[in-house]
Amino acid sequence: MTVDTTTQTLAQLGAATLDQVESRFTEIRASFDAEISRDSVSGDWVAFVAQWTGRKSGVLTRIADNWLKSAAPELKKVVGLEFQKLKAHVESSLESKRKEIESAAEHGAAARDRVDLSLPGAERAIGTRHLIRQTYEELTRIFLSIGFSVVEGPEIETPYYNFEALNIPEHHPARDNMDTFYIEGAREPHLLRTHTSPMQIRTMEKQPPPVRIVVPGKVYRRDNPDATHGYMFHQIEGLAVDTDITFRDFKGTVEYFVREFLGPKARTRLRPSYFPFTEPSAEVDASCHVCGGSGCRICKFSGWIELFGAGMVDPAVYGFVKNGYDAEKHSGFAFGMGIDRLAMMKYGVTELPLLFQNDVRFLRQFP
Ligand code: PHE
Repeated sequence: MTVDTTTQTLAQLGAATLDQVESRFTEIRASFDAEISRDSVSGDWVAFVAQWTGRKSGVLTRIADNWLKSAAPELKKVVGLEFQKLKAHVESSLESKRKEIESAAEHGAAARDRVDLSLPGAERAIGTRHLIRQTYEELTRIFLSIGFSVVEGPEIETPYYNFEALNIPEHHPARDNMDTFYIEGAREPHLLRTHTSPMQIRTMEKQPPPVRIVVPGKVYRRDNPDATHGYMFHQIEGLAVDTDITFRDFKGTVEYFVREFLGPKARTRLRPSYFPFTEPSAEVDASCHVCGGSGCRICKFSGWIELFGAGMVDPAVYGFVKNGYDAEKHSGFAFGMGIDRLAMMKYGVTELPLLFQNDVRFLRQFP
């Protein structure tokens, strides 16, 4: 093979004239050109490059070692020149071939990755917001529109915030239907909050008056599960405290809410009630959204639907809070709604468990 001539000196090869030297170089160059244009060259590219330009035993190195160094003085110049020409040719050919190989590879990859736009797409099931979430958003939107802000609080509470600070002392009968789900092992006793009212206290402790907040969240009670009860449900608490809030502000806010939530024709009724942390306390009823008040199966022929509990903040509560709250100066109102209950009522759902089974056939009815 031609390349083998490079293991000998020019003298050994019998190249003694300029013409003979040039033709040796021409042979080498021709053999390089033939090899680099082989189809298989990209398959053994690294070896091919090393064969020609390898530092130790590449053809160029061998020519420099065997031909150039030992060249007769009168040939030295032309050997050097021919060598430089060959070297430049080899290097620039390798460089352009390398680019050729790379762009061919990129082309192949692009062709493999090309998306076939004519294929039918994979249909993905799109979920809906859960009915409770939708109702939660409806409720908060209404209160945000009249200057309330939304805060959230812990589901694991201390008896102090869940009861005592809300004016429900240890043996108070109001605890009976709420005294539930205590967590053992904690240094202090804890329980799953039975209502969102603890956030009334936590918020007032953090922020001096005035305050206007709603607090959505999960609450827990020891109820026997049936069509309208579970061990967990969602509430949204409301609290407004300032220096001059009256019962009229309370009633006006409640009426505004009822009309926004159930429609402009809905009427509101307050019934006396009792909560240890409000005084006076009320149950808020709305005229039945199904029959408009004339009486039907849904309102049990009373014309009214019970919506939620509420009242004016009991002055005793300010005494637990301190932080600038003074029963002589401040007044306010509070309410606590069951989000699940309101959703069921408004959307005609009769079974509470449907809200928690996550059956898409049910959920898709509320897009
Ligand atoms: N926390 C009460 C409950 O869960 C509801 C309520 C809240 C009543 C605020 C009055 C004021 O039953």
